[in-house]
Order: sequence, then structure tokens, then C-alpha cells
Amino acid sequence: MLSLPNETKLLAALRAAGPGGLSAEQLARLLSCNRSTVLAHIQSWCQAGYEILSDPHRGFRLVEEPDRLLVADLLSRITENRIVGSEIRVLPELPSTSDLVEQLAREGAAEGLTVFAESQTAGRGRLGRSWFSPGGQGLWFSVLLRPPLHPQAITRITIAAATALMRGLQEETGLPLQIKWPNDITARGRKLAGILTELRGELDKVKEVIVGIGVNVNVAASEFPAALRPVATSLKIEAKGRAFSRPLLAGALLRELDQDYHRLLHGDFASLAVEWEQHCATLGRDVQIQMGRRTLSGRAEALDENGALLLRTEHGHLERVIGGDVSLDK
Ligand code: BTN
Repeated sequence: MLSLPNETKLLAALRAAGPGGLSAEQLARLLSCNRSTVLAHIQSWCQAGYEILSDPHRGFRLVEEPDRLLVADLLSRITENRIVGSEIRVLPELPSTSDLVEQLAREGAAEGLTVFAESQTAGRGRLGRSWFSPGGQGLWFSVLLRPPLHPQAITRITIAAATALMRGLQEETGLPLQIKWPNDITARGRKLAGILTELRGELDKVKEVIVGIGVNVNVAASEFPAALRPVATSLKIEAKGRAFSRPLLAGALLRELDQDYHRLLHGDFASLAVEWEQHCATLGRDVQIQMGRRTLSGRAEALDENGALLLRTEHGHLERVIGGDVSLDK
């Protein structure tokens, strides 16, 4: 079990105390340290842009938190006993968080390592596409997993990530969201978040999986490149201009990802698949799936036990689909 640094525990305690606040003595007792260490931590959080008020009756109260991704802040939002977020790194700019996680994985990084970047200069999407990752307006991060799965079952990871994203985003924003197979979170049919699941392994054994997640949080419509404007959206656009706290969302997503990864590890893919199906805009619909030069048409019927889509083709055959680009027939 990992133990959190004291400044992280202090922030979590102040957040949990809410408007009631906590005195320096209470904080010192909670952190098993002296009053002057408490005051030094409070000062360093204030220097980082956190507004902490001190009141002789109510003690210290956390009243405002900046929209910055900081490791100690993110750690204060997740449980100590976890896989996802076992180590967190935040960088101002990277070509791609998934590339860095892959490199660190080769160097032996622990499972659960999570890397965030404020911006990406070469963010990657599925099918060789690029992923628009402007500074400070979204969540661009990648998680290293080492699931005991056969490579054929790897789509289960994408399904688990999608249910986790769906729950985390919906609970924190209250917005009506949907899943589009296999990996898109959409709002009003436009893409809001995507998952890129990449695998390193052998024929019969997964060595590591890198789950890259991009969430358009506070991107304004005018900021999307022209080609994306008709098909992309952000939480802020969907909430009619209301901005969302990225650290708050990041904390929720890390907790939900950890929870659904544990569900998967405990052999509970069936309940994940049910949850996924409840939110899926693709199932029960006539769809077209572009796979390279091949186009498949049919009705999306269900997920199989490995997370592949079962498509009833025009000719009545049931095809198992694990990749490609889905569009819904009108
Ligand atoms: C998709 O095409 O829907 C998947 C998009 C995944 C984007 C994320 S952003 C963080 C991580 N780093 C990348 O380069 N890509 C993923």
C-alpha cells in the first residue's frame, strides 16, 4: 500500500472538511506532524494558487482551487490502495503521453503509472489519426496496465475504460452522454472523448497495455480546427459555456478507471458489458463499419465475451468486429 505525502493528505482533509474548516491543531493531529509543518504546507498550497482562508473560529477553509494539474493535488483525489495512478506524472507539454508511457514501460515502470500532459504536440488517435490536444483545456493522459489477458480479449480493456469514463464524466457534469462503439464518448452525436488502447505483447500473452484517454473539457467551439468543428464537442460546449475543473474530473476518472479495472481483474466483465450496453448508442442500430478498404453493413447486435461487436450482416451472418470506424445509418 502506498502512503500519500503530508501535503497531499492536508489538501484532502481540507477538501473533506468543507466550509466547517479544520484548525492547525486538528490538521497536525491528522497528519501526525507539528503545527509549523502544517503552516508550511498551507503556505505552499497558497503559493500554488489555492485559496485557503484562515479564521480564528473555523480554522482553515479551502475556498478555491486552480484549474491546474498537479501531482500532489491529483493524488489527494484518489485512494491510497489503487492500481490506476500508482504513480502520477504531469508534464507541461509532450508529443504524446502514450509514447512516454510506452518508453517508461520498456524501462520497467510499475503498473498503473499515469502520465498527464497539459498539451500534446503529436497526440495520436485511432486509425492513425491525430488528436487535437490544446494546452490547459482538456485531459490528455495515458495509463500503463499489465492485465493477465489473452491478446484476443484486449477489447475488454477499452470497454472497461469506456464505462469508467462514462460514469466519471456523467456524475461530475450531469450531461447526457453516450458511448459509440468501441471507444468514443459522444454528446448529441459529437465526439467528446476518445480512448486509444495499445498493446505490447506476444502471440498468446499481453505484456502491457497503454490506455490513452483524451477528454475535451473546456475547448471552445471556435478553437477546434475547422475539420473537427462539425464532429467534435467539449463538456463546456455541451454545458452552454460553463467551464469544468480539470483536476476534479481527472480525480473522478482515475477512481472510476481503477474501479472498472478491478472489476475486470475479478472476472466481472459481464457486468461491465451490461453497463456499457445500457449507454451505447450503437447497439440495436443499423451501422456501417469501415475497416480499411472493406465496408461492413448490418445491425449491431451485442458485445461478445471479449468485447468484440457482433454484427448481423445484410446476408444474415453474424460477424465479430474488433476494429474500424462505425457510422450509424440514418
Ligand atoms: C481516438 O481516436 O478516439 C482516441 C484518442 C486518444 C487520445 C489520447 S490523448 C492522451 C493519449 N495520448 C495520445 O497521443 N493519444 C491518447
